[in-house]
Amino acid sequence: MPRKHLGVVTDGAFNAGLTVRLDSGVSTEEMRIGDFVVVEGERNLYFSMISDMELRATDPRLTADPPRDVSPFIAQALRGSLTYATVQVKPMQMMPLGEEDDFVVDLEAPRPVRTIPMHLATLAEANESDFRTVFGAEEMGGKYFAMGTPLTMDIPVCLNLERLVERSNGVFGQSGTGKSFLVRLLLCGVIRSRVAVNLIFDMHNEYAFGKQSEDGVFVKGLSQVFGRSKILVYSLDRDAASRGGGRSADRIVRIGLNQIEPDDVMLLAQELDLPATAEATIGLLGDRHGERWLAHLVTMAPPELEAFAEESGAHPASLAALQRRLKRLQRKAYVVEQGDFNLIDEMVMCLEKGQHVILHFGQHDSPLDHMLVANLITRRVRQLYREKVERYEETQNPADKPRPLMITVEEAHSFLNPSVSRQTIFGTIARELRKYHVTLMVVDQRPSSIDDEVMSQLGTRVSGKLTEERDIDAVLTGVGGRSFLRGALESLDTRQQVLLIGHAVPMPVVVRTRPYDDAFIAEMHAGDGRPKDAAQAISELFDA
Ligand SMILES: Nc1ncnc2c1ncn2[C@@H]1O[C@H](COP(=O)(O)OP(=O)(O)OP(=O)(O)O)[C@@H](O)[C@H]1O
Ligand SMILES: [Mg+2]
Repeated sequence: MPRKHLGVVTDGAFNAGLTVRLDSGVSTEEMRIGDFVVVEGERNLYFSMISDMELRATDPRLTADPPRDVSPFIAQALRGSLTYATVQVKPMQMMPLGEEDDFVVDLEAPRPVRTIPMHLATLAEANESDFRTVFGAEEMGGKYFAMGTPLTMDIPVCLNLERLVERSNGVFGQSGTGKSFLVRLLLCGVIRSRVAVNLIFDMHNEYAFGKQSEDGVFVKGLSQVFGRSKILVYSLDRDAASRGGGRSADRIVRIGLNQIEPDDVMLLAQELDLPATAEATIGLLGDRHGERWLAHLVTMAPPELEAFAEESGAHPASLAALQRRLKRLQRKAYVVEQGDFNLIDEMVMCLEKGQHVILHFGQHDSPLDHMLVANLITRRVRQLYREKVERYEETQNPADKPRPLMITVEEAHSFLNPSVSRQTIFGTIARELRKYHVTLMVVDQRPSSIDDEVMSQLGTRVSGKLTEERDIDAVLTGVGGRSFLRGALESLDTRQQVLLIGHAVPMPVVVRTRPYDDAFIAEMHAGDGRPKDAAQAISELFDA
């Protein structure tokens, strides 16, 4: 398929990008910043993006004294003679051209740009096969997942799910930009392709079961998309056990006071408004009662409190204050005095078998519940994964190899803000990369509130519109070509448009997110997502 000719390269520099004079018949209004174009050099094809546009005049008199009230006809006549437009183009990937024709091109993988084309190289609109060459296509194998289409074209743009789950990722965007929809899409892709198993903290009750969307449409949850054999729902909410219509949970989770560690409580210092002396007091309680410290504290009668303060040297008033605050935990319906890890251990066994687990919070959806439960469960899960990996390293037996696990967590700043990210298990997982085969998908509307160090570890970032400078900076941490990506982020629509950057895509790209609707869900049921063999995939590609 020939590409539409747009202009020729007239100027450029490796770092600054290329200046292309547009053909007189091509209007700047046909293009958008961030559009994907191809520069055809003599030896290479350059996959590039439009980063800027400029209007120019050949005759300074035109700018100094522009004619008034020109008819469209005159304006058209001036175009190309007195007036012209240039676009600034940033090469992102290049591919050596084949000997005779560009057919050969489709077989080689694109690589990072190391050079630039000479003057008069042509700029052309990217066609479908260019998109396939760069981003892959779903027909090429289950690891490719179409996220959407470029804003001005109707061509699927894929991300590579195997690469996605290799590192921790982030989904960002202001409220209402479609993060939860993106997460549903990504999870569907990961589940269908089986590149990882998922543990999903469903903090706002939107992933396990269906939910009414802002437009009043009923949106299916993952358990309805994939069925209960693949998705297990664990709930904190007792009522969720008895609901009908496929909306009941498989297991009800209980947390024992004995399972809550001093670090879990310190993480909640702000939520619980703990006194400044809390850490020291908890230390004294721990020395005395071990894992039963909290159960003891919340049940001590005033004389016992006094006695304990006296013998341990704790400050009586702060001990009493601590007790009052921590009774809030005891009053939670899902907290029991004595709990064990059987349920979480079973959860990990299910994950091992390839089932996906959603932790449904139900009516317990305050930040306090999120932080307490997600941290506690994740700590245990990671510990078990760590043991598995260590066993596998010893035996090298393929049967012991743990499946990669991706943990999805919304409101990620609660766990990953700079003041807590060093203490939470989520911070640890983000930092240790995929050493224990566990990665995160963090979802947040304020990326600037997440620790920089964590942000810089995120392999793939998917972001909807952001307007605050700090948030944009955070999403672009450690990414090259920031100034133009910043423009792309700011100019997104407020819904269903995202910038994809990082490990799972060969170059940053802006897409209109594909709809999560009945057609999509039917597609998830269709193929089993297993990669076809390479020869078949390639022959199909060229038949298309
Ligand atoms: N891919 C999509 N398919 C269908 N509808 C979408 C899609 N993306 C966004 N929408 C629409 O945008 C609305 C907001 O999306 P969503 O609830 O995912 O936003 P959000 O970023 O998670 O917001 P919040 O930060 O408040 O949780 C949805 O109710 C839906 O109508
Ligand atoms: Mg949401």
